[in-house]
Amino acid sequence: MGLNDAARRLCGAPVFEQGCAVKKAFVKSYGCQMNVYDAERMTDILAEQGYAETTQADEADLVILNTCHIREKAAEKVYSELGRVKATKKERALAGRDTTVVVAGCVAQAEGREILRRAPVVDVVVGPQSYHRLPELLAKARRERVVDTDFPVDDKFERLPAPSGARIRGRGVAAFLTIQEGCDKFCTFCVVPYTRGAETSRPVAKIAEEARRLAEAGIREITLIGQNVNAYHGEGPDGAGWTLGRLLRHLAEIPGIARLRYTTSHPRDMDEELIAAHRDLPALMPYLHLPVQAGADRILDAMNRRHTGDAYRRIVERVRAARPDIALSSDFIVGFPGETDADFDCTLRLVRDVGFASAFSFKYSPRPGTPAAEMDGQVPEAVKAERLARLQELLEAQRQAFNRGTVGRTLDVLLEKPGRHPGQVAGKSPYLQPVQLEGEHRIGEIVAVRIVRAGANSLFGESAGAAALDAA
Ligand code: 5AD
Ligand code: SF4
Repeated sequence: MGLNDAARRLCGAPVFEQGCAVKKAFVKSYGCQMNVYDAERMTDILAEQGYAETTQADEADLVILNTCHIREKAAEKVYSELGRVKATKKERALAGRDTTVVVAGCVAQAEGREILRRAPVVDVVVGPQSYHRLPELLAKARRERVVDTDFPVDDKFERLPAPSGARIRGRGVAAFLTIQEGCDKFCTFCVVPYTRGAETSRPVAKIAEEARRLAEAGIREITLIGQNVNAYHGEGPDGAGWTLGRLLRHLAEIPGIARLRYTTSHPRDMDEELIAAHRDLPALMPYLHLPVQAGADRILDAMNRRHTGDAYRRIVERVRAARPDIALSSDFIVGFPGETDADFDCTLRLVRDVGFASAFSFKYSPRPGTPAAEMDGQVPEAVKAERLARLQELLEAQRQAFNRGTVGRTLDVLLEKPGRHPGQVAGKSPYLQPVQLEGEHRIGEIVAVRIVRAGANSLFGESAGAAALDAA
């Protein structure tokens, strides 16, 4: 009988839920939503192995850093965190306690064995396609340091445990669901096609099963995620390849799921079926994250985006014709190699033409192994910083204007957690804006809220009665 079985017998129930687990795991995630989803799946696997989750690194027998490689700053964070982990491991060793250290995620995939060389504190390096093998890797790590950065032929998702309803609901009323992984677009600045591999889509039936399980546990909002989510082409129950639009129609019929979102999309994959889904499905929230990256055609071409600035404007027009109130969001990169002042002006012009409700913007960061890192015309840091500040000022003004535009309107708000102050609850509007609401309300409810004020980061509102969806 293993230690976990013994603990389970003592408690008479799964170790995790009884709070009498013998081992503790600290999992820290960096970067995108895909990593948040993966980190949750790793804690599900660890729960089966008898680990309880802790937010305290110094009491953890197992430390997992789920890393991001997208920009240099993100990748370097892991090494500074490993410095702290090293000190903790040493202190714990003096007290006679072992600590196993795992580096997972995209830095693990990209750097592999190099991490073991740079950071002797690390015991296991595991890529995003192999973390379902964590139990075997941890067992092996008792004897030697381990690296697993394969792209295995077995389906990772098939091997992941199904978490209990209590565990799912314990994480909140909104959940991520991975439907697609990897990317075949090869934008010249991006590491994703190398770290996450080729594009693959999960079958519709598997996704629907996971969505039903989430709904039964009390989840009200599902965000479908993938590096290139609208390139989705998973096998449908009829054997045909289904598009994201078709999948959304199917999932909208699951009882209990009031809200659907998806991210991140590529402009080239915004097909008619997806745009029509925005027109037809009340559950599909009026929010679209559609990265454009830059406004100048010359730069878009060098980025291998395979769309122009005007093509992006036309897509936005079509989406707005289908769903006039849709809130648009984007990613931008400033200072891509060869970007001139005139090119950057095209980005500002595109932002003014489109109007964004929110956005993420970054200085170009050369990533080893990507074509852009080798290009002539690398832009000096000071120029990048100056352009980023100007772009962010414009985007911030647009965000504030969008938020102010909702004052006086009544919006359906999904209540997610207790608010900042006692007597407040916090939720999200259909446009993904954080909303603070006074009064007694149940988490998971969707309530109609009259927006009375727009703060710097949140909207403030008062209850306006039952929400349209819940009242129906
Ligand atoms: N430098 C700066 N930003 C990058 N992104 C991806 N690669 C880089 C890079 N090398 C940004 C893109 C992408 C977002 C997730 O990160 O804008 O859409
Ligand atoms: Fe990277 Fe997105 Fe381009 Fe794919 S589409 S290469 S994930 S930026």
